[in-house]
Amino acid sequence: MTRHLGKSVGIIGTGQHYPERTISNHDLSEYLDTDDEWIRSRTGISNRRVADPGTGASELGVPALLQALQNAKVEPNEIDAIIVATVTPDTLFPSTACRIQEKIGATKAFGFDLSAACSGFVFALTTGASMIASGSYQKVAIVGVDIMSSIINPEDRTTAVLFGDGAGAVILSEVAPTFGILDFEQRIDGSGADSLFMSAGGSKRPASLETVKNKEHFAVQLGQDVYKNAVVAMSEYARLMLDRNGLTSDDLKLFIPHQANSRIIEAAAKRLGITEDKVMINIDQFANTTAATIPTAIHQAYQSQRIAKGDHVILTAFGAGYTYGSVLMKWVY
Ligand code: UT7
Repeated sequence: MTRHLGKSVGIIGTGQHYPERTISNHDLSEYLDTDDEWIRSRTGISNRRVADPGTGASELGVPALLQALQNAKVEPNEIDAIIVATVTPDTLFPSTACRIQEKIGATKAFGFDLSAACSGFVFALTTGASMIASGSYQKVAIVGVDIMSSIINPEDRTTAVLFGDGAGAVILSEVAPTFGILDFEQRIDGSGADSLFMSAGGSKRPASLETVKNKEHFAVQLGQDVYKNAVVAMSEYARLMLDRNGLTSDDLKLFIPHQANSRIIEAAAKRLGITEDKVMINIDQFANTTAATIPTAIHQAYQSQRIAKGDHVILTAFGAGYTYGSVLMKWVY
């Protein structure tokens, strides 16, 4: 049975923002035991954007959201809720949603941060859409933003080459019948918690001289475990979206997966029988921006006219937790 929202809710505007500074694979290989060939062949990444130290997630989120509002022709004071998907909030509290609300002057909004790592945007999208479908809210802003450079150990080649900083945003609203989010399915599976994590800085292991000395405020990843699980979950949940809505891969205009590794994306697309021309990729220039990969990819897909009104699009994500899921949409405009 599909998870239909009960009302038609869809994206009516998108935006993005990246820091200006680009770091290439060659730049990294000047101080890390790595090289362009390894990074490109194993991950598909050539460049990533990196924010200046001291930049908060809200500082990338605000311009992304303002662009989405402008594209949606919605004023900040029309926004009922702001949901910010991030694992790198400005501060643990108050929420980055509060920082963004104040900076854009969203005087009517409530909001909160949502922690689901690389699946954060997809989880926030379906949460915001469900809030609109309930009838209690009209316009919801979803921001996916991460400053991964703030939690990546620059000396650890197994993670330092993989991530970048960025923000993407969308505005959700009720839309014409049969358009917008048609179906979705998501899961959390805590058995994967020890495969991708940051051990210190929370209540279990608060910051101390010892945690800093042990470099426990950086992300750690068991790459191969995550890789295998990501390929299976991303393709299975995307397949579910097609199967239970009576669609085939031919009916799909664009597959927009989380961008962690181009090999994961290729393997998932192959399992789905989707050809390369229907797969959205931005990992080559922006690397893995965690909660920002999918909203920036949606924005870039629309701007480059790879999606238009009436097109079927599938989003699929996998991340720390584990967290995963897929969304089927019919593009609104
Ligand atoms: O977004 C959240 C979800 N995250 C993901 O989905 C990421 C999933 N995992 C991956 O994408 C891949 O596992 C990685 C890109 C992280 C690693 O690729 P891999 O093909 O699984 O490589 P590996 O970990 O098996 O390492 C192969 C070799 C090792 O050397 P030995 O032991 O074979 O001598 C590593 O030490 O590559 C070495 N290596 C590197 N070499 C050069 C690891 N990182 C680097 C590097 N440069 N940056």
